[in-house]
Amino acid sequence: MELRILDKEFELFISENDINYALDRLALEILEKIGSDKLTFICVLKGSFMFCADLMKRLPAQVCVEFVFAKSYEGLRSTGNVRLSRIHKKTLQGRHVIIVEDVVDSGLTVNALAKELDTPDVTSLSVCTLLFKPNAYRGKIKIDFVGFEIPNYFVVGYGLDYYGEGRGLRSIYKIKT
Ligand code: IMP
Ligand code: MG
Repeated sequence: MELRILDKEFELFISENDINYALDRLALEILEKIGSDKLTFICVLKGSFMFCADLMKRLPAQVCVEFVFAKSYEGLRSTGNVRLSRIHKKTLQGRHVIIVEDVVDSGLTVNALAKELDTPDVTSLSVCTLLFKPNAYRGKIKIDFVGFEIPNYFVVGYGLDYYGEGRGLRSIYKIKT
């Protein structure tokens, strides 16, 4: 399966089916390791909206969600700095907090967020990402839950975009080189 977005060609990389298996597995891992009691997801917008929603559907109804906007990418690459929207930390008091990312690349975003959220008020802080690019990762914190480890490909679909397009695709596509 091939597809064109703006000036770039993409090919199928991770199917909808494989994403669904990964979602089932991640939900079980979270339940085993953390449980669902006093659990809050931090959905990192925009990219994680679909992943976070589908993951929540697999967990008990008491799981809460908060949203944060983060921007570090411009087109195909990281700008090297990250802009975060304000986080209402009051709602995180006494909670197990999981940062839910679409993809961890350089790690800039997730490390900046973790620094913001790592307060004594938070019971535990962990990171769950659908995609992880270990060869690009420069961060310090541990990535606790990983859907897929992938090479340094640029990918779109299932929340991930190229200049805003491609987010609604059910599967993940990688750029053709
Ligand atoms: P990091 O801060 O370098 O780890 O990048 C994280 C953010 O960059 C993600 O949340 C995405 O919004 C964006 N990003 C990183 N890699 C890709 C990609 O391959 N496709 C689309 N967006 C990406
Ligand atoms: Mg993005």
